[in-house]
Amino acid sequence: MKEITQELLNKLRSPAFPGSYFLSFEGIEGAGKSTQIIKLKTYLESKNYRVLVLREPGGTPFGERLRQAILETKTEITPLAEAYLFASSRAQLLNEVILKELAVPNTVIICDRYIDSSFVYQGFSRGLGIAEVLNIHSVFPLNIVPHLTFYLRINVDTSEKRQKMRNAPKDYFESKGVEFYKKLVVGYDMMAELFPQRILKMDAEVTTEQMTMQICGAIDQLIGQKKTLQFEEEL
Ligand SMILES: Nc1ncnc2c1ncn2[C@@H]1O[C@H](COP(=O)(O)OP(=O)(O)OP(=O)(O)O)[C@@H](O)[C@H]1O
Ligand SMILES: [Mg+2]
Repeated sequence: MKEITQELLNKLRSPAFPGSYFLSFEGIEGAGKSTQIIKLKTYLESKNYRVLVLREPGGTPFGERLRQAILETKTEITPLAEAYLFASSRAQLLNEVILKELAVPNTVIICDRYIDSSFVYQGFSRGLGIAEVLNIHSVFPLNIVPHLTFYLRINVDTSEKRQKMRNAPKDYFESKGVEFYKKLVVGYDMMAELFPQRILKMDAEVTTEQMTMQICGAIDQLIGQKKTLQFEEEL
């Protein structure tokens, strides 16, 4: 299996559009990603940001067709094919939407899952290797990563409870069982260690309100930091 090298890690970069931000939410099913994205969108809009929420895979007509194909498949797709399918949808989303929209000042793009889902699902859980997924993402525009990623961490029991609560239908991923989910949590924890600057690992066992407060606090910090940086650059 390929080694995770500094050279591969150095290929990744966050977009440099002044005043605009690229964010993602990660975590296993039921972590609260969709719930918190709605809250964060409202918060950012109250601060006069233009907010676009995108989901992965999907977000473009081509990506939505790929999403359907992946979710509805009855036969197992090989990890490499799966990784390229997601990357293919992502490349299209970057070109068609993310990069164009971020060029408009005061825009925030929030992705419901992004590159870390590929690391965790295909790279780690399905055994393709993190380095292989990094390799796929080493060329522009796939090497573009969010400024900040919220990793909402819950345990597998909570995931099951929350999924039952909202009566989610069993789909391609959800039908995989407890061991599969446990492995995903290990994978996400590893990603938080590999990318400590970008990924904010948060205890998502707390109430929705507590979670929202912490997320908005982190966003205030990010916006504050970037403003300071821009100010320093102007001097
Ligand atoms: N902090 C929380 N405490 C209790 N329940 C929560 C919390 N956050 C979300 N929920 C509930 O758990 C369920 C799943 O939440 P949500 O749909 O936001 O998760 P998700 O991470 O988007 O899941 P998926 O990956 O399947 O889309 C919903 O019924 C939601 O109301
Ligand atoms: Mg969701």
